[in-house]
Amino acid sequence: MAIPIITIDGPSGTGKGTLAARLARLLGWHMLDSGALYRVVGYVARHRQVALDQADQLSDIARSLALEFRLACDSVQILVNDEDVTEKIRSEIAGSDASEVAAIPAVREALLVYQRECLRPPGLVADGRDMGTVVFTTAALKIFLTASPEVRAQRRYKQLKQKGIDVNLARLSEDIAARDRRDEQRTVSPLRPASDAIILDTTALNIASVEEAVKVLAQEHGWL
Ligand code: C5P
Repeated sequence: MAIPIITIDGPSGTGKGTLAARLARLLGWHMLDSGALYRVVGYVARHRQVALDQADQLSDIARSLALEFRLACDSVQILVNDEDVTEKIRSEIAGSDASEVAAIPAVREALLVYQRECLRPPGLVADGRDMGTVVFTTAALKIFLTASPEVRAQRRYKQLKQKGIDVNLARLSEDIAARDRRDEQRTVSPLRPASDAIILDTTALNIASVEEAVKVLAQEHGWL
């Protein structure tokens, strides 16, 4: 029998990561935070002074995630050559670098293999931008989260403030908009809902209500 998969896609600040983590815990399934992979590729590139348009070198970095950097599926703590980069890859710069390397077809191709290897019993909750449209097209449940740009910027602002990171809301809104534009307009795997995705607008919802809605869908599939 096929291993069940829930995909959660959408732009930044919609609560994908939080929802994916909660669902994975609830179901006892594995979790794939695909954005972290693009963030690590961007981080290593910057560290090695590889320009973000060097497709060959960037795809070499992407291919060596598992072996060289020992990045494992379900990673909560991310180590790059023994350096703990879990928090560092969450910065706005790392997000922007990630979206640049993510526009390179060879990088996406290299990460595709790695992402599919994360599909293991009893099931997988995968979050990102193209989980439902490219990586796991046969997933039985595909969720696409949206929210107004203002609310997404506010959520991200609050998140960064809580971490003690000083940010300017207007700048942050601009950065998020630029990243969304790049993700939506790139030629490979652009950000868009799969034709069979369920679209949930989270603008006026808190995380508990979103989780509740998806829990009902998981129950309908007999997973809960
Ligand atoms: O989800 P997160 O904000 O960590 O993703 C960082 C960037 O990585 C996104 O802006 C996007 O450009 C890229 N990404 C992607 N495909 C995915 C996950 C992330 O292109 N499946």
